[in-house]
Amino acid sequence: MADADHALYYSDDLMTNLQLRYGEGMLSPGGAEELGRLVGSIDLSGKTGLDLGCGLGGYDTLLVADYGVGRMVGVDINGAAVQLAARRAADMGMADRVSFHAVEPGPLPFEDNSFDFAFSKDSIVDIPDKAPVLAELHRVIRPGGALLISDWFRADAPYTPEMREWATTGDETYEMASLGSTAAELAAAGFAEIETEDRGEWFVAFCRDEVARLSGPLWPTYVDRFGEESARRSVKNAERRLLLAEQGQLLTGHVRARKPM
Ligand SMILES: C[S@@+](CC[C@H](N)C(=O)[O-])C[C@H]1O[C@@H](n2cnc3c(N)ncnc32)[C@H](O)[C@@H]1O
Repeated sequence: MADADHALYYSDDLMTNLQLRYGEGMLSPGGAEELGRLVGSIDLSGKTGLDLGCGLGGYDTLLVADYGVGRMVGVDINGAAVQLAARRAADMGMADRVSFHAVEPGPLPFEDNSFDFAFSKDSIVDIPDKAPVLAELHRVIRPGGALLISDWFRADAPYTPEMREWATTGDETYEMASLGSTAAELAAAGFAEIETEDRGEWFVAFCRDEVARLSGPLWPTYVDRFGEESARRSVKNAERRLLLAEQGQLLTGHVRARKPM
């Protein structure tokens, strides 16, 4: 998807739509549980972290509240999301521990070695050319610092026609990485201790539940808020995603790595 289209793609309506199914402040599935699996036994207390593609900042406030992170800095190309994230964090009394900045796609506006760790949730999937992003994350993490990514991935095989059709929004297509190609790109960027975790099985169960919720308890809210046609589209899209997940073509996964000392 072209970067310039993104601020438009994550419209207010889409952000409301996603929060209704994923939880307040969340534009991606998984919430506290998947975050816990991603962090694992890594001690983040008192550390300063960068969140690439922070959206509404739901994961940043969780990292501070549940993991004792000292300070989170969220960046996103969507200025409206960043403003909402800042307001939400202030309402939660966390304005001194989290900050949010609108950025342009490309080089990050931070010095080398600025962060103890970097985090990204379901955002690198949106960026077609991933190697420069991983190189930037490597540059801004301090030596010995951790990289924690949770994202959507493709299977190792090329896109099938139905996967390509699903991945195409408007005139653009999500160019997804596989867990294997991500590990290789991280190694090429200079990361070590690279670990990947396939969460495809969890994702299938999540997608199944999402279809049931969208066509059941959430249906009246979606119709009321977005209209029947749009509510139907949400269900249809979730059903197509479930099928691709069941076929193993689309999965979520966690990736951990470290910048060597
Ligand atoms: C699916 S949302 C996830 C937001 C948040 N991480 C969450 O999980 O709730 C993807 C986010 O990535 C942002 N994004 C896309 N391309 C980006 C880029 N090149 N740099 C920073 N953010 C980007 C989008 O604007 C969007 O807010």
